[in-house]
Order: sequence, then structure tokens, then C-alpha cells
Amino acid sequence: MVAVQNVSIDIERGSFVSLLGPSGCGKTTVLRAIAGLERPDEGSIRIGDEVVNDLPVWQRNIGMVFQNYALFPHMSVADNVGFGLRVRGAPASERRMAVAEALEMVRLGAVAERLPKQLSGGQRQRVAIARALVTRPRLLLLDEPLGALDRKLREQMQLELKLLQRRVGITTVMVTHDQEEALTLSDRIIVMNAGKVVQAGPPDEVYRDPRNAFIADFIGTSNFFSGEVVDRTAETASVRLVNGAMIAVPIVAGQAEVDTSLSFFIRPENVFLSSGKASSDEGSLRGCVLHVAYSGAVSHCYVDIGLPQPVDVLLTNANRSTPVQAPEAGDEVVLSWTRSSVTALTP
Ligand SMILES: Nc1ncnc2c1ncn2[C@@H]1O[C@H](COP(=O)(O)OP(=O)(O)OP(=O)(O)O)[C@@H](O)[C@H]1O
Ligand SMILES: [Mg+2]
Repeated sequence: MVAVQNVSIDIERGSFVSLLGPSGCGKTTVLRAIAGLERPDEGSIRIGDEVVNDLPVWQRNIGMVFQNYALFPHMSVADNVGFGLRVRGAPASERRMAVAEALEMVRLGAVAERLPKQLSGGQRQRVAIARALVTRPRLLLLDEPLGALDRKLREQMQLELKLLQRRVGITTVMVTHDQEEALTLSDRIIVMNAGKVVQAGPPDEVYRDPRNAFIADFIGTSNFFSGEVVDRTAETASVRLVNGAMIAVPIVAGQAEVDTSLSFFIRPENVFLSSGKASSDEGSLRGCVLHVAYSGAVSHCYVDIGLPQPVDVLLTNANRSTPVQAPEAGDEVVLSWTRSSVTALTP
């Protein structure tokens, strides 16, 4: 069996890169190959100008943090962080300085003498990061580093991790299956599926211009539609949905033939909801509110437009000087969007 295939990734020095994808797609395998814990049957792994395929783990000078950060429970924070240096036989004075510096990086100097069990989950995570940084690696690998933390702490640690990475300037590769985490932290996202890289690029590019339906669905939320192309110009296809509605979909050369089917998507934040008449030249649809799911800062309003799936409309709940009437289940509404927010999908 092949776990990953034809994976080719370039990581710029000093950047923060995320490997993102569903469970079992091969993220950990790629990380382990970079670290030297897994040997690729084909291809090469280069760090800087050096091919490291034949270099054993300990000579690659890579720092690693795994999901279960496995601190030694009977050792103090400082001894945990200094463990790698002691194994290498570094003299005590040098070790003390390096440990103090690493703990300073993660702002844990004050708890150096505590045992891991006397720390919070987030602090333990930072100890694991300090332990990975203490040998001044040229690359930091993180496998689901925040996976064990609850949501609030996780968000706090995301910010800390980003600030730390920027301060230290270390090239970092993080594995996550959390798309929001990848979007928040990364200079570049590498999306994997079934052992292959399916798209790589800066977060906003991957979000705005996902290459296929899998990515559009995996990163963020999307309203997917599919219908028959009844007419087309060079730039636009007129697509008829099964409920009879006509939608204008921007296309590129070669995309969408008349009488074939075309799939496209619109993000929930790009659909606008009103009770009045729709403007004519942009897209619009009539529908009936099924449900409004309130979640604090935003709500998702689900609108039935006579298709199997309701349309997801994102509403923000900011305080406004003139309160906007919130939609309720049963309301007749008009959905509209600008044409440029409709994205055709290549099958
Ligand atoms: N030691 C192994 N021997 C055989 N197959 C393995 C081994 N480790 C992983 N695999 C398989 O390789 C594929 C990729 O696994 P990998 O652990 O890289 O996925 P992942 O993306 O990290 O998933 P997750 O998000 O669940 O951690 C999976 O199909 C897995 O079952
Ligand atoms: Mg994994």
C-alpha cells in the first residue's frame, strides 16, 4: 500500500506552512518523512541545498512536537526542555543557558522548576515547543500540536504559536485537520486528500479560489449548485437549476458547454438577504426561511429555494444604530449576490 504519492512541496525559509487534509490523507506520513522517521521509496527530501534522504533523524537538526506531547512526568520543566542537550552530552553550563533561553521564548521562565502535572494544558504544550526549539533546529515540525486543547485555549495558543514563530523566525511545518487553524496561522496551506497534494497556496487564495469541490467544501462552507448550461458567452454561462431558476456563472475559456451540466458554489457570506425586490442584473432567488441558527457573533440563516439543499446565508450580529429586523422561520425572502462571487467548479 502507498500512503502518499507524488507529493512535491516547497517550503520557503522562515515561513509557516500547514499540511491540511482529512484523517488518513497522509499528513503525518509526510511530516515523518521530512523528519527522517519514514524513508521515501522514491524522490528526495532537501533542506536548504542538502539532500537529506540518507541522513538519520538526529543529524537532520529538526525540532518536533507531536500531538501527545509526552513530557517526562517526574522531571521538572527545565529538565524536560534540557533532555535532548543532556543526551548529546552538552556541558551543564551551556545546557542551563540554552534551557533558560528556550523557556524565555515560550514565556515559561517562571515555572522552570515545576513538574508537568503542575502546569495547564497550554503551558505543557509550550514546554513541548521549548523542548523542540532548544537545540536551535533549522526546521520545526508540529503534528496537530493544539489538538488536545479545548477551543478557547486552542485559539489563544494559535496566536502565541504564530507570534513565537515570527519572533524566532523558524521555518515551521504544522499538520492540522482544522481548516480554520490552517487559515489563521499559515503563510501557505498545502491541502492533501487521499495521499496527494490537491492545492497549495496562500490561505486567502485557497479560500477564494479552491481548485475543486473537495477543497471548496473542506475549506470554509459553500453552497453548491449544479444545473444545465442553456446559453453561454465567452465569460458567462447561464445555468438552469432544477427549480427553474437561472443563474449567471462566470467561466473561463473551455469551461461549460451548452447542454452540459455545470457545478458552482457561492460562499454563505456572499449571499445577501432582503425582503424587498431583487435587483435584476445580478443574481437573485426567492425563498422561504427554514431556520436561523444563532451562534453569537454570526447567525446562519437556512433558506429553502425549492432545491434539495437549503441555501446557507451568513448574517453578522453586530450592534447597529438602526436595528435590522432579524429574519425568522417562515419569512419570505429574496437572496441576492454579485456575479463575481459565483465560482464555477471544474469537474
Ligand atoms: N505504519 C503504517 N503502516 C501502514 N500503513 C500506514 C502506517 N501509518 C499510516 N498508514 C496509512 O497511511 C495513510 C496515511 O496515514 P497518515 O497517518 O499519514 O494520515 P494523517 O493524514 O496523518 O491522518 P490523521 O489526521 O488521522 O492523523 C493511512 O491510510 C494510514 O492508514
Ligand atoms: Mg496524523
